[in-house]
Amino acid sequence: MADQERILSGARPSGPLHIGHLVGALQNWVALQDRYRCFFAICDWHALTSEYADTGRIRDYVFQIALDWLAAGLDPERSTLFVQSRVKEHAELHLLLSMIVPLGWLERVPTYKEQQQQISGRDLSTYGFLGYPVLQAADILAYKAHWVPVGEDQISHLELCREIARRFNALYGPVFPEPQPRTTPASRLPGTDGRKMSKSYNNAVFLSDPEPQIRQKLMTMVTDPARVRRSDPGNPDLCPVFTLHKAFSTPQTLERVDRECRRAGIGCIDCKGFLLEHLGPVVAPLRERREALAGNPERVREILEAGAEKARKMASSTLEEVRDAVRI
Ligand code: TRP
Ligand code: SF4
Repeated sequence: MADQERILSGARPSGPLHIGHLVGALQNWVALQDRYRCFFAICDWHALTSEYADTGRIRDYVFQIALDWLAAGLDPERSTLFVQSRVKEHAELHLLLSMIVPLGWLERVPTYKEQQQQISGRDLSTYGFLGYPVLQAADILAYKAHWVPVGEDQISHLELCREIARRFNALYGPVFPEPQPRTTPASRLPGTDGRKMSKSYNNAVFLSDPEPQIRQKLMTMVTDPARVRRSDPGNPDLCPVFTLHKAFSTPQTLERVDRECRRAGIGCIDCKGFLLEHLGPVVAPLRERREALAGNPERVREILEAGAEKARKMASSTLEEVRDAVRI
């Protein structure tokens, strides 16, 4: 274990996870657990950077993500699962890093201006929001992570993290390895309206959805817009349902749908039925585990506390080195 390379990733608690998270990140994380020493953080301080005026749901979302992670197969025996705010070393490292990060670096991060423009109704011209990527760098560097599995939208944050690590090492001596991103391929599943699946678009199929709800969401999902009648041939390449097939169905089903859709040999309801036959069995065991855990919140809290304890060990030893390097 000790000489294994380390992985850290995190998520903001912004609601329950959906099947896009499952095929984008979670299945990938689950597979990494045997080969790496993995740390997975539920980043509630990051949630605060934009939700500071309305914090009422953050604790519940933390719990929901923990359920989703555990149900999906993140294993507390092999990985360290914890809540960011339970490991104060992240805050100390964030502070120390903030001393050496030029403002220009932060103002240049593309997500900074994008998010400020996109998220309306909130004042995001705060110190904390500008510092979001510094906090993220602290999450990563506190564990001297070698690899950070993230979606493509996080690449600029990772690049900044590497720059911060380099600057720290140049100023105070070599403490941090430069963490490398491991982007997850094919992480963009469409939602029921054909746009990218996202809780905020109201188009997501959640891991916590009961079976009838999943069925109903799929059955009303948009298809190839040119296929109006059952007798109209369709084009799977233009159909978001087919994109879901690619994520969940077997090659045989894909081949059959591709062929029969184009000659109106099957209808969209048939096609969605096939999808459900493949998607259902992936999500069902997850939902069962999730429900069992939801009925035992004490157990979940124990897992997260034990995780925080383990995370703290690693992070506090890094922080000792950091303080020595900075001579503080
Ligand atoms: N910013 C990440 C996101 O929005 C979440 C995150 C916080 C994270 N800390 C991290 C991801 C550390 C990777 C590593 O998805
Ligand atoms: Fe889409 Fe399937 Fe309908 Fe073709 S048959 S348009 S792939 S839902």
